[in-house]
Amino acid sequence: ATTTVYQAENATVSQGVVESNHAGYSGTGFVNYDNVSGSYVQWSVTAAAAGSATLTIRFSNGTTTNRPMNIAVNGTTVASGVAFNGTGNWDTWQDVTVTATLNAGANTVRATATTANGGPNVDRLTA
Ligand code: GCU
Ligand code: CA
Ligand code: CA
Repeated sequence: ATTTVYQAENATVSQGVVESNHAGYSGTGFVNYDNVSGSYVQWSVTAAAAGSATLTIRFSNGTTTNRPMNIAVNGTTVASGVAFNGTGNWDTWQDVTVTATLNAGANTVRATATTANGGPNVDRLTA
């Protein structure tokens, strides 16, 4: 199926900041989540048709501690405590994928940090 790139730096950010001080991101930067539980990035994702979709989040985590997040679609958590493990350094990016059902047309996809460490740095969502 066709996939679309949704940059984190163009999404809605709560308790985080757009930055570009670590290499390897796509687009114009990434979101540095505040290191608090509840910080999130929310994207508006358009699906041509209703059905299952693969949501791919590209992130870096320069620590050795998992930064888990909950993934919600249209306000419903579809994946809890998804692991965003250490990637070695803040310039090294990896993909995490979640499968979810989307509606035809507009959907919200929110990735919310669940620990006091906040989320990882997030580059983009592909869906
Ligand atoms: C460093 C790093 C940030 C990162 C932060 C964190 O400050 O430069 O990009 O977000 O650590 O621990 O969350
Ligand atoms: Ca941070
Ligand atoms: Ca980006």
